[in-house]
Amino acid sequence: MATTLITGASKGIGLAIAERLAEAGDTVVGIARSESDRPFPGAYYSVDLEDTAAAQAALQDIATTHAIDNLVNNAGYSIPQPLGEIDLDDFDKQVAVNLRGALICTQACLPAMRAAGRGRIVNISSRSVLGKEDRTGYAGAKAGLIGFTRVWALELAADGITVNAIAPGPIETDLFLRHHPVGSDAYNNIAQAVPVKRMGKPADIAAATQFLVSDDASFVTGQVLYVCGGLTLGAAPV
Ligand SMILES: NC(=O)c1ccc[n+]([C@@H]2O[C@H](COP(=O)([O-])OP(=O)(O)OC[C@H]3O[C@@H](n4cnc5c(N)ncnc54)[C@H](OP(=O)(O)O)[C@@H]3O)[C@@H](O)[C@H]2O)c1
Repeated sequence: MATTLITGASKGIGLAIAERLAEAGDTVVGIARSESDRPFPGAYYSVDLEDTAAAQAALQDIATTHAIDNLVNNAGYSIPQPLGEIDLDDFDKQVAVNLRGALICTQACLPAMRAAGRGRIVNISSRSVLGKEDRTGYAGAKAGLIGFTRVWALELAADGITVNAIAPGPIETDLFLRHHPVGSDAYNNIAQAVPVKRMGKPADIAAATQFLVSDDASFVTGQVLYVCGGLTLGAAPV
């Protein structure tokens, strides 16, 4: 069975991915800054992806201790700000967690994947790349993650490593509810607009991730899968 490293594994989508893969018999390794909301079903490390040097050292240790077959770059962070009011420190934080964090985690896992001649990388992006007000830093970083996905897919295909992105939303997690409280106009407008007439659950993203890290997905690379209840229809390119 495979070993999967999941970033941002303390709660929400990351913890749901870990639980689903572990239930299927895989070994899971999680990282985040805080303890997990529920008991984590595998090895778990405290790592702050904003602290690049410390994170690189920790990931080096993790990659030495565990033979990582699959990596899910899920850690994410959003600070909505209108264009004219963007605080550059906040902008940098969003790039550090959502984008540079994925780069340093991938670099740490790459040697073992290359040596094995097989690997799976799943980058958790966002539907906000298609346009969402006040998300310059977040959507910029998440769009960068799609750029990473396409570049890495080409660079790593010959090594047997696939790289894909999932663009979720709306998924009811702490991150979503912080910016769209239940009962607010923001929440109600989205709830009414979702074609399948329900909000997403972390398990919806976990199911898609489980496919993309599987051997069955070996012919899928460089793609972006919108897991969004149809909300991006009419906006996402064909
Ligand atoms: N929910 C949605 O509708 C939605 C839509 C589009 C995309 N996404 C993306 O899906 C992913 C998961 O989001 P979620 O909704 O599950 O959010 P969440 O519940 O807020 O979880 C975010 C995870 O990222 C971790 N994280 C944040 N900053 C970190 C840092 N500096 N270092 C290490 N880990 C850090 C958090 O752990 P700690 O706080 O413990 O560090 C947590 O485990 C994110 O990339 C998010 O952008 C979510």
